[in-house]
Amino acid sequence: MKTKITELLGIEYPIIQGGMAWVAEYHLAAGVSEAGGLGLIGAASAPAEWVREQIREAKKLTDKPFGVNIMLLSPYVDEVAKVVAEEGVKVVTTGAGNPEKYMEMWKAAGIKVIPVVASVALAKRMERCGADAVVAEGCEAGGHIGETTTMALVPQVVDGVNIPVIAAGGMADGRGIAAAFMLGAEGVQLGTAFLVTEECQIHENYKDFVIKAKDIDTRVTGRSTGHPVRCLRNNQTRTYLQKEAEGAGFEELEHLTLGGLRRAVIDGDVKDGSVMSGQIAGMVKEKTNCKALIARLFEETKQVFKGVSIYE
Ligand SMILES: Cc1cc2nc3c(=O)[nH]c(=O)nc-3n(C[C@H](O)[C@H](O)[C@H](O)COP(=O)(O)O)c2cc1C
Repeated sequence: MKTKITELLGIEYPIIQGGMAWVAEYHLAAGVSEAGGLGLIGAASAPAEWVREQIREAKKLTDKPFGVNIMLLSPYVDEVAKVVAEEGVKVVTTGAGNPEKYMEMWKAAGIKVIPVVASVALAKRMERCGADAVVAEGCEAGGHIGETTTMALVPQVVDGVNIPVIAAGGMADGRGIAAAFMLGAEGVQLGTAFLVTEECQIHENYKDFVIKAKDIDTRVTGRSTGHPVRCLRNNQTRTYLQKEAEGAGFEELEHLTLGGLRRAVIDGDVKDGSVMSGQIAGMVKEKTNCKALIARLFEETKQVFKGVSIYE
């Protein structure tokens, strides 16, 4: 396949594996890149030396380009921003803020910068500060989300900027990917579908919980605090939503989810941990590996485009 994103990133398929906190470490990132997509290491709030180590380990497993997702609210963000430049990372995606102050350093290091956005206004701002592309992420996605759906957000962002747009949120098969292309995207970013790959090192309980999930099984907590997060429903989301409805304050609510993703990913606590996942979990039904998943997704996409014939 050839799109502006395969050209920009030097990859075979226009697919990015979203940088997922605690989940997207080097085995997964390298597995996706080896399979022809772009794998990302999720830096989240991890110290810079952890990120450096992850980059070096990924390089042992693949010669292909991979990237790092940088959370701009991380206490270590200044150091992490330097590490990606020093280590020759090819692509950086950013979340939770404005990467403007690092742009010059990253450009000088030849890094392609792709901010994740949930609105047209932010996409435009990112274009103005030199982004090479944007990920437009709809609220169907797992993890921290905005308010607008992928279906409504992607075409509006496509119309709002002149740089390529990558659609994220709610895709796990060729129909979803084909739909994203029809909305004007030049690539896609998936997170939930990669949770159940062999290369993904999360606890098996987490994978099984995703596979068991149905279409209506996610909940969004944290709307009242201004930090909405989508997870699979469990004891934790139930308690959180109850407390939110009762008007609990930020600190009490924060306390409920503190360390929650770690508990789910590392300890396999799918009852009281934060099992972040998108709405498309209901369509993720079997464990697989990155190569098989990406090959299937794009074979399906091809078949969808071949089958499009609604006009005579
Ligand atoms: C467990 C999990 C953790 C995530 N953590 C992050 C993160 O740290 N940074 C980020 O930019 N996006 C994060 N995301 C969002 C993904 O990168 C991706 O955009 C999203 O999963 C795409 O939607 P989907 O879940 O419907 O495939 C996370 C998603 C999941 C499922």
